[in-house]
Amino acid sequence: MAIRVKLFFGILAIGTFSCSFLFLMVNRYYGLNILNNAIVMSISGERNDETGFSESSPTDMTNSSHLSGFFKRLCNRDTYEEIRNNRSSPWFVKRFNPSIRPFLSPLSQGIAREDFDWWQSLQVHDISYEAFLAFLRKLDKLLPNSELLFKEKTRECISCAVVGNSQNLNGSAFGNAIDCHDYVFRINFGPVKGFENDVGTFTTHRFMFPGTATNVAQGTGLILVPFKMEDLKWLNNTLTKMSNKEKTIISTERKKVIVYNPAFIHYVHNNWAEKIGRYPSTGFLAVVFVLHYCDQVDLFGFGQDSHGTWLHYWDKKHKGIGPEHSANNERVMLERMRDNGIIRIFRKQESRR
Ligand code: C5P
Repeated sequence: MAIRVKLFFGILAIGTFSCSFLFLMVNRYYGLNILNNAIVMSISGERNDETGFSESSPTDMTNSSHLSGFFKRLCNRDTYEEIRNNRSSPWFVKRFNPSIRPFLSPLSQGIAREDFDWWQSLQVHDISYEAFLAFLRKLDKLLPNSELLFKEKTRECISCAVVGNSQNLNGSAFGNAIDCHDYVFRINFGPVKGFENDVGTFTTHRFMFPGTATNVAQGTGLILVPFKMEDLKWLNNTLTKMSNKEKTIISTERKKVIVYNPAFIHYVHNNWAEKIGRYPSTGFLAVVFVLHYCDQVDLFGFGQDSHGTWLHYWDKKHKGIGPEHSANNERVMLERMRDNGIIRIFRKQESRR
């Protein structure tokens, strides 16, 4: 009897040890974190799982204390069902076109003539369609192994935070809520250092164009938005200089560079901005891009202040949005997406507009 009991506990101990070992190895190898009862894929950066929040409404937050429960509603089975359901509505289906590639990969595939003609209308200098395609083929050689946004979908519901640069992030304490998403997309200069409590620390991708280019941390994806031909040339120069080990315009990992598809800019302008404004802002382009990959899409740092002033969370000087974009229309469109249950927008009460 005593031998059987010893045998039983022996097997139990070995079994427990093996399972723990296996779990640790899997966790280490695949970067799996168990968070909020869901397994999420860690792309890069440190995660912060000190939530400090409990139950809440999933829609706009009037202040950070209402974030209670936010984490429970982050891509759980119910929210996933809700999102799927909302995405089958005629409102969404009419706008969403899954057949348009969000990024140009491989670049050599080029874009349709019609999209090129629209994109050409944004240019300062004329360029022929053939010259454009030839340039893309050249650039393609410099981006041989561009990583796709997601290598694979690791689980059913993917949560993504898009962090805009609005001053409404100041004092929001949204940092933890932002960091707990599977993917965190930031835009242009939007700094993290010194603003961690409000904007978080985790970044998987950064959208930018040359005018707003900053160094991209190792492991972070750079999503270049080419508004102009010069922007693609800049990328070409940056990558070429990198290969020569000269001082670069910015530092980034070549395989982490993704080029936003000009045809997709056209699609966002037509279907989502309803052709208002000359072309959409980087933030608006980022939101639609992310909609094509993620299930739960949460926006932080979007919105002017109560006087309609466009400020950045790190810079209190007045800054107007460029005349080529329509800030008001983009706000209206984002709020429509929210009202149709496609995205959630988090912002503080005093800066809501
Ligand atoms: O100013 P910037 O273009 O770098 O900001 C990135 C994005 O953040 C914008 O394109 C816009 O979508 C959003 N933003 C905002 N309200 C602000 C500032 C930025 O919605 N006050």
